[in-house]
Amino acid sequence: MKKAEIRKYYENKIKEFEKHNKLYFELSSPKVTDKYYDQLKKEILDLENKYYYLKNVSSPSNSLGYTPSKNFIKSKHRVKMLSLSNAFNKDDLENFEKKIFNYLSQETELEYSVEPKIDGISASLTYKNGELVLGTSRGDGTNGEVITNNLKTIKDIPHKINDKDFPKDIDIRGEVFIKKNDFVKLKNDFANPRNAASGTLRQKNAEETKKIPLNFVAYTYGYFESDKIKKQSDFLSSLKKWGFKTSEYNKILKSINDLENFHRKFENDRFELEYDVDGLVYKINSLELQKRLGFTANSPRWAIAHKFSADSAFSKITDINIQVGRTGALTPVARIQPVNIGGVVVSNATLHNEDEIIRKDIRLGDTVKVERAGDVIPHVVLVDLKKREKKSKKFIFPNNCPSCGSETIKEFNKTTKKYDAVRRCTNEGYDCEKIAIEKIKHFISKDAINIDGLGKKVVENFWDLNLIRFPQDIYNLDYNKISNLEGWGDLSVSNLKYSIDQSKKVPLDKFLYAIGIRHIGIENAKLLAEHVKSIKNFISLVNKSKLNEFLNIDGIGETQINSLKKFFENKSNYKIIEKLSSILNISDLKLNKDGKLLNNTFMFTGKLSNMSRAEAKSLIEENAGSVVSSVNKKLKYLIIGEKPTNRKVQQAKELGIKILSQKEWLNLLD
Ligand code: IVH
Repeated sequence: MKKAEIRKYYENKIKEFEKHNKLYFELSSPKVTDKYYDQLKKEILDLENKYYYLKNVSSPSNSLGYTPSKNFIKSKHRVKMLSLSNAFNKDDLENFEKKIFNYLSQETELEYSVEPKIDGISASLTYKNGELVLGTSRGDGTNGEVITNNLKTIKDIPHKINDKDFPKDIDIRGEVFIKKNDFVKLKNDFANPRNAASGTLRQKNAEETKKIPLNFVAYTYGYFESDKIKKQSDFLSSLKKWGFKTSEYNKILKSINDLENFHRKFENDRFELEYDVDGLVYKINSLELQKRLGFTANSPRWAIAHKFSADSAFSKITDINIQVGRTGALTPVARIQPVNIGGVVVSNATLHNEDEIIRKDIRLGDTVKVERAGDVIPHVVLVDLKKREKKSKKFIFPNNCPSCGSETIKEFNKTTKKYDAVRRCTNEGYDCEKIAIEKIKHFISKDAINIDGLGKKVVENFWDLNLIRFPQDIYNLDYNKISNLEGWGDLSVSNLKYSIDQSKKVPLDKFLYAIGIRHIGIENAKLLAEHVKSIKNFISLVNKSKLNEFLNIDGIGETQINSLKKFFENKSNYKIIEKLSSILNISDLKLNKDGKLLNNTFMFTGKLSNMSRAEAKSLIEENAGSVVSSVNKKLKYLIIGEKPTNRKVQQAKELGIKILSQKEWLNLLD
């Protein structure tokens, strides 16, 4: 088929998909079977995978295309449902332990609860006084969909628990999945067992869920208060006693070597299991250590998923494109002849950066090995030199940005004393088209402003139609024009309007993250927000060129300050923030108002024993205190560890600031 024919074929499928969505979700009178509907959806997704130029706002791959979430009431998780960071090899595992030791500032033998990572979808079950009162999906991690009735159809999920030791109020969390055998019957309807479980579980009608044999294995908790259970492995045993299914392969192991050996063995045997497992999860067994380690923005510090090795296949590079990212990074992407890798058709593979291309001498027309693991972007592993064409030439990385033509540079890293592997466009701002689009995509993303109904593809589409150029344009969209666009019905336009309106109320830290300053990720945005407290103060600091004040914040350094300065040197960035702050309702950061250390500021000097600075800092913040990084009148306590800086102690004495030893400080907290 020619490109135009493929496009036409695709558009027809989309039209049909829209029609059935309307019949099912708006009119509640489906005219086709679920099987037919799912097949249609699958065909559209397969087409998009195969022909990357196909896109449509109503595609099931788009968040504005039908997402079942609109059909379910949302409920805020009492404790967020986070994901896990991944390890692929021994280095990653060693790194994981190293970070733990650094955080705790001590090296101890760690004991792990090892559990298979079942490839299904997670669910949370709230039990009050032994009764299942609420069941939710993970949703976006903060809010889940209420799917209690659907979950209740799963035979492994108890509705009532009479065990006297069962906590009065607890969220039990685990994985809903479908066994491989049961999937055989459904394999024409869904791409894999995971999709089948997800689709079945989120049926509008619980009776439909009942028809498919779903299973539930419990592995952790959300909200839960107990001082009786001290270990993850004990929690797993309790789950079993209370009547939940737990994995029969759960294990306790100690060293990285043992983890590796078990992983190797399990990886070989996993095909014999009744269900799909895509790795092993290692959790620090001691719940007290888990509590100390806490979480980063997206995942716990005390657990990691050790994935099984990737599937791979050979294919030929037909083109190399340079993508421009939000921060100007130029990423080369190989377009390859579509190839099936572990059940997914892959037609693009990342080449990471310029250095990687040079190191592997990757060229146009080369036959390469492409690897794909789980949800990670496929990448080129090696070149099959035997298959290289004689005429082939080295790939020359462009010196100018392919989007705006500006000069590109490799930055010199003062710490590592090396040039970055990544080449960047020097045009920080909205003058570079590709950077601008990526900045807008970042602005609307989940961890930022979070506009539920506006997906990345829609942003691209609106950009092409000249509907948006800056983030603020989102709040001034021409909805009449949109409703006349192909693929947009009244329902999708009103959904879009609604979610844009909802996004206007945003906490300060999310806003500071959303504006997309390089080196200001979620954690740093939080630090800045805690410091300035309001958007007004933030803008005023920028106006007075007082960004150096942020150096007072423990955790913010030269890199972040330089990046902030560079960002605001560009006047359009400043104007955007001013504009947005007049449109949005940016709420001051909610401070922790309950705690023994409220209104107290602390600073550390010297090495603490058995605790890192990061841990000490979160301990103070959990108790409503704050940590600063310079001695001045605002400081209340200077905490002294081993080998303190004399100058700081001297300054503190001069200003009459109280000086505490680590022990005295911990006594403040009991
Ligand atoms: S613990 C904060 N344990 O993996 C830690 N997760 O990427 C929460 N999963 O969303 C997860 N088996 O769907 C945990 N034994 C296990 C698991 C498991 C599968 C899934 C779960 C989660 C994802 C994390």
